[in-house]
This record gives sequence, structure tokens and C-alpha cells, in this order.
Amino acid sequence: MILSAKARVAGVMGWPVAHSRSPRLHGWWLKHYGIDGAYVPLAVPPDGVIDAVRALATLGFRGANVTVPHKEAVIPALDRLDAAARRIGAVNTILVHEDGTLEGRNTDGFGFVENLRTSVSGWKAAAGPAVVLGAGGAARAVLVALADAGAPEIRLLNRTRERAERLAGELGCGLSCPVRVLDWSARAGALEGAALLVNTTTQGMAGHPPLDVALDALPRTALVTDIVYTPLETPLLRAAAARRNPAVDGLGMLLHQARPGFEAWFGRAPKVTAELRRFVLEGG
Ligand code: ATR
Repeated sequence: MILSAKARVAGVMGWPVAHSRSPRLHGWWLKHYGIDGAYVPLAVPPDGVIDAVRALATLGFRGANVTVPHKEAVIPALDRLDAAARRIGAVNTILVHEDGTLEGRNTDGFGFVENLRTSVSGWKAAAGPAVVLGAGGAARAVLVALADAGAPEIRLLNRTRERAERLAGELGCGLSCPVRVLDWSARAGALEGAALLVNTTTQGMAGHPPLDVALDALPRTALVTDIVYTPLETPLLRAAAARRNPAVDGLGMLLHQARPGFEAWFGRAPKVTAELRRFVLEGG
């Protein structure tokens, strides 16, 4: 649409940013809701990230999303963080307030849980133990979201065990912390009695070997999800579907994490629909 001079503007900061699906996603909503607004890719090199974040207010941006590799680097440029960003230690959404102050939020965990809730009717984190594979940046948001959503037990396994130990320690959930770190070599057995299996490792992503885990001990009712969405159906999700476990791909996490930012910047609570999903996928 043709913008007026009052158009609301937001964008996504990344380096590189050309692979980001966010402009297509937010662009679809802007068009669908007929909003006088724009959402643009912002290619920000690492040494320019602090200046770029501060410039959001100067330029009159409503805010921005933040993607790889800037999610932690933007923090010193922000005036405050919401509880999720503080606990996850990373920001994916920035809001410029009326007074020019900058707030960092993290909606990745929200996106993760909403994807499962909306894909599988009646899904609840509290239903049983969760197994989370991987302890990188993506695992952090998943762990916080699952703990906050009431998962009674979270079994965390990472190839490098120390990294999982460190992550569990940093979550700061004290004695009531549901996270238990197990050895990577124990991953097949760790699936016993699980209600949810989440892959946050890079295994199964295009160009990487498949995730090496035997699903035999996993109950048939357990939900299996991968936060990777390239390919949409990872070998893990295919193996899960073949044994009739419910399986949810990672694209929905991307779509749902975008909702709070869009609403804050453009004043409309957007819906995730099958049509939107198709449109974002067609973007390659
Ligand atoms: P991100 O921050 O985006 O999640 P990352 O920090 O590179 O990405 O994390 C990648 C995850 O995939 C890590 O948990 C990594 O395990 P290590 O901490 O041991 O590196 C995991 N990973 C990568 N290659 C793996 C492999 N061949 N087998 C098992 N896990 C692997």
C-alpha cells in the first residue's frame, strides 16, 4: 500500500538479514489489515548494533525485531527489559515508547508455547515430563517457557553436558526448578514416560545430519516438535509421524513469536492462519 507521512514503521535487525522471513510475515499482516505501516529489513553489522538500536527512537520507528547474531548484543542499548528477556538473557522484540525510551522483550518462548497450544488442542505443558535436546540460545527460551507454563519436569540433554549444566544454573528457578540435566549418551532412555520431546539442536536442519536419537522408548502419545523449520519436516518429525506420535513443525514458533511485536507497533492483534503460513513458506 502507499504509505502516508504518518505511517508506523518497524523492522528486523540482523546480520545477514536477507534470509529473514519476518518482512514477508509482517508485510502480509499489514496488507491484510490495511494498516498504514511498513516493516523493513535492517542489515546491521555487529559493530553498529548499539548505534542502530538507539537510532530507532531518533528515526521515529515504533520498534524492531532482533535476530541472529544481535539478540544479546542489543541489551546494553536498551532502557529496560521485560521479565522474559531478563530470564532468557536475549531480546527479539524492541518497543520504542512515547517518551523515546527503549524496552526489550523476548517473545520466543511465547511463540514456542503458542505453536504447541494452537496446533494440538488441549495441549498443556503440565501434562507430563518434557525432554529438551540442545542447550544453545534457542533452548534457553524453550526452557523458560516450559518452566513458566508448568512443566512438572524438564530433562535437559546436550552433547556438551557442561553447557546444559550452566544453562540450568542460569535459569534461576531455585529449588523448585523442574530442569534435570542428563547425559547425552542417555538420550534414548530419557524419553521414557515423556509427554513432550523438543529438538533445539542444529541436527536435522538442512545441511546437517539428522538427529541421532532412537524413539523406541517414547510413549506414542508424546508430542514431538522441532524448532528448526528448514526443512519443515525434519527427519525427527518424519520418524515421529511414522510411529503416529503427534508432531508439530517449527514454523509456527516463528509466526507466533511475531504477534506481540506486531500488536505493540501497529495496534492490531494479528492472527496466525493457514493462509499466512502458506504465504511465508512460499517466500523460500
Ligand atoms: P543456537 O544458539 O542458535 O541454539 P548453538 O548455540 O550453535 O545455536 O547451539 C546448537 C546446539 O546444537 C547445541 O546444543 C549443540 O550442542 P553443543 O553445545 O554440544 O555444541 C547442538 N549440536 C550441534 N551439533 C551437534 C551434534 N552433531 N550432535 C548433537 N548436538 C549438536
